[in-house]
Amino acid sequence: MCGIVGYIGKRQAYPILIKGLKRLEYRGYDSAGIALITEQSGLQVYKTKGKVADLEKHAEGKDISGTIGIAHTRWATHGEPTSTNAHPHVSSTGRLAIIHNGIIENYAVLKDQLKEKGIEFHSDTDTEVLVQLIDYIRTKKELDLLTSVRIALHQVIGAYAMAIIDKDNPDQIIAARQSSPLVVGIGDGEFFLGSDASPIIEYTNKVVYLDDQDIAVIDRNKENVEFVNIHNETIEHEIKKINLNLSQIEKGGYPHFMLKEIFEQPESLKDCMRGRVNVDLNNVVLSAVIDYRKELINARRFIIVACGTSWHAGLIGKQLLENFCQIPVEVEYASEFRYSNPVINNQDVVIAISQSGETADTLAAVELAKKKGAFIFGICNAIGSSIPRATQTGCYIHVGPEIGVASTKAFTGQVTVLTMLSLAIAKARGTIDIREYEELVKGLNDIPEKQKELLNSCNEKIHEISKIFTYARNFLYLGRGYNYPVALEGALKLKEISYIHAEGYPAAEMKHGPIALIDEEMPVVIIATKNALYDKLMSNIQEIKARKGRVIALVSEDDEKVKALADEYIELPKTLECLEPLLATIPLQLLAYYIAICKGKNVDQPRNLAKSVTVE
Ligand code: G6P
Repeated sequence: MCGIVGYIGKRQAYPILIKGLKRLEYRGYDSAGIALITEQSGLQVYKTKGKVADLEKHAEGKDISGTIGIAHTRWATHGEPTSTNAHPHVSSTGRLAIIHNGIIENYAVLKDQLKEKGIEFHSDTDTEVLVQLIDYIRTKKELDLLTSVRIALHQVIGAYAMAIIDKDNPDQIIAARQSSPLVVGIGDGEFFLGSDASPIIEYTNKVVYLDDQDIAVIDRNKENVEFVNIHNETIEHEIKKINLNLSQIEKGGYPHFMLKEIFEQPESLKDCMRGRVNVDLNNVVLSAVIDYRKELINARRFIIVACGTSWHAGLIGKQLLENFCQIPVEVEYASEFRYSNPVINNQDVVIAISQSGETADTLAAVELAKKKGAFIFGICNAIGSSIPRATQTGCYIHVGPEIGVASTKAFTGQVTVLTMLSLAIAKARGTIDIREYEELVKGLNDIPEKQKELLNSCNEKIHEISKIFTYARNFLYLGRGYNYPVALEGALKLKEISYIHAEGYPAAEMKHGPIALIDEEMPVVIIATKNALYDKLMSNIQEIKARKGRVIALVSEDDEKVKALADEYIELPKTLECLEPLLATIPLQLLAYYIAICKGKNVDQPRNLAKSVTVE
């Protein structure tokens, strides 16, 4: 939901800011803009509807010099994506320029008050209200910029990561955070700002993650950044060293991040399990389960809160935790949970799942559960992000940065962590048979190799199948048990990037509605592996065929029966039933990817979506 970048130092700011915006484009891509303070022309603002590449064209031939600047890539909340509504926004005096990620909830009231004082507005955005308010306070009371920002932030309700520059002070950027992520990079005589560390790591690995209510005063003449809170109290921040390298955030020869991330899964799951799954010792060790053993093994109930793909991982987590740990589990959409007045007490453990660690609804659900006394466990990918910092403990999935907007490797990473967590707790509680436990440890350890085998065997075939089905306007995805959430996830992937309407259903529910949609036009993807419910799935396939539906089946390698019935099939390597999602998801990711490619869609930046949803 909007990406923000800033630079101040000795180099030319423009190329650094543009590169940074490109790295953050996954966060929003409907318009982009940049503000520079140049020696010749003073404050220069260039902005346009469209992507960062459009901004570059727009800025061609203009004065793009200057060693201080801020830049923004937008996912519209208030006001259409137009060049007027694009950031940066400049105050009426022409002195201040601001970029902002978040929502100012009371912007309408503030706007009316400012209008009454004679301030004219030029855009429909909540962000313009913020910069006008800051500048009004500054001029009216003749205050310095930091004080004006602090006073303004006291009046603002909502979420923000923002950076502001003053045309008359080209030595300073002021940045602040409330509920939206913000990172400061500390170089040698130069400083960087980013919504995450990806625009920064090329230049320095030293960063500070801002906390809520923090304000950073970044001055090119000072060695260090000063941090205060909105009450003007000094804040000491530890400078963290980050372990990201450039290749992790670049495409590495793949045409799209999404395809790269699908193919990375064998390696990313190895990283996820490294030091945790030890097949020689037949053991799964999670430090969180050692450190918080009492809270976890005595939990009376788990409540999983998440959104989107992470919620689908949660549905698999429920089955794993209930089966192996014998503890009841509820899975809630974080957006509903936070407003539902849930009954929670201190024997509940809330598991928050989030790739980005920044999803506003999931973060709010965590805060609510914390207030009600629950113990909070986070399952996140982005290191140092807000959710892991708000939880008591947790487990990073360690699959590396995920940049494609449609989540792929993060999903299998989340399911892997949920599997390890279930095994570790089940063993500690004594609710799992030791032979089954050992089989599962081995099965989990073998998954990356099986994924590799599967990717090699199915990639081309799925590419071919996808060409047949680009005509479809609807798709149905069916699965049962552990594969029911996989069906939901497959349907979501297709919707997100190809804009084909797709529904996921538990296969047996088909007869309660979706069967009415089946005709010779309707492709039905069914995960029909040889597991406990195989016979029932066979009947579902017969029912689809009897109505001339077109079946694309995911089948076990040795299953000739389903292969003969299906129009198209993909073979899955054998594994234990509860580990099947870690394989079955992959062909569905590829199917969505290739169908979207055949339809000429931008898979990495699907319309209207953003990777990190930091607004409600
Ligand atoms: C957005 C993304 C999805 C993601 C969801 C939750 O909608 O486009 O891919 O699953 O947010 O994000 P999180 O970072 O909390 O997992």
